[in-house]
Amino acid sequence: MKECSHVAIIMDGNGRWAKAQGKPRTAGHLAGADNVRTIAIAANELGVKYLTLYAFSTENWKRSQEEVGYLMKLPKFFFEKYMKEFIGRGFRIRIIGEMDALPEGTAQVLREAEEESASNTGLSLNIAMNYGSQREILLAAKAYARDVAEGKADLNLDETGFEQYLMTKDFPPVDLLIRTSGEQRISNYLLWQIAYAELEFVDEAWPEFTPEVLKRCLEEYSHRDRRFGGVKQ
Ligand code: IPE
Ligand code: IPE
Ligand code: MG
Repeated sequence: MKECSHVAIIMDGNGRWAKAQGKPRTAGHLAGADNVRTIAIAANELGVKYLTLYAFSTENWKRSQEEVGYLMKLPKFFFEKYMKEFIGRGFRIRIIGEMDALPEGTAQVLREAEEESASNTGLSLNIAMNYGSQREILLAAKAYARDVAEGKADLNLDETGFEQYLMTKDFPPVDLLIRTSGEQRISNYLLWQIAYAELEFVDEAWPEFTPEVLKRCLEEYSHRDRRFGGVKQ
């Protein structure tokens, strides 16, 4: 199978999945968090090097206080349960998003996960938490403008140089973007980074996105002809 280095997933459909079972939306988020572990392990075994998961968007603050509160507590449950195993497997946890705007306890748990796994060289498991791509690009533009004003940068910036201002500066471009639960939109995710990604939309809700479905997505990816604007000889 053709190698796929960077997979990004919009983990959607937790709420609808729970509702269909007569459960509260939070039960869907808990099942979704457990599935992060399952899919991270499967992705690693399938040769993925970077897995970037959309956990909470800058728009998700619009939800009820109860739901947002639960989503802010989930990282603590999640890393208490799985961090040891992730370390054992060599996973490196990295967070993208504005951590400063998160409740202090949530930000601390995320920072600790990053620090504890900083020397690992296996799968880079990247969690997008309070992440929005337009905001990321705006912050990058402001940081660059500041550097120019302070004489630390000149106007000869190219695309590669601009990428150094993005939250994803340590990752390669996205090869494959998957969105679960049937919606076909990007919802402010990695707009710059998916410029030439392959896109796949699957009907399964995130809690029912199994390693078999991931494998099916990677197989589909391996049949895609990525031309990057060129012409195949
Ligand atoms: C994805 O599932 C998780 C988050 C956005 C936090 P949703 O909560 O969006 O579930 P649906 O789309 O309402 O079913
Ligand atoms: C995108 O899902 C955000 C995450 C998966 C974290 P949403 O459920 O928030 O997106 P919309 O509202 O359907 O576009
Ligand atoms: Mg949704």
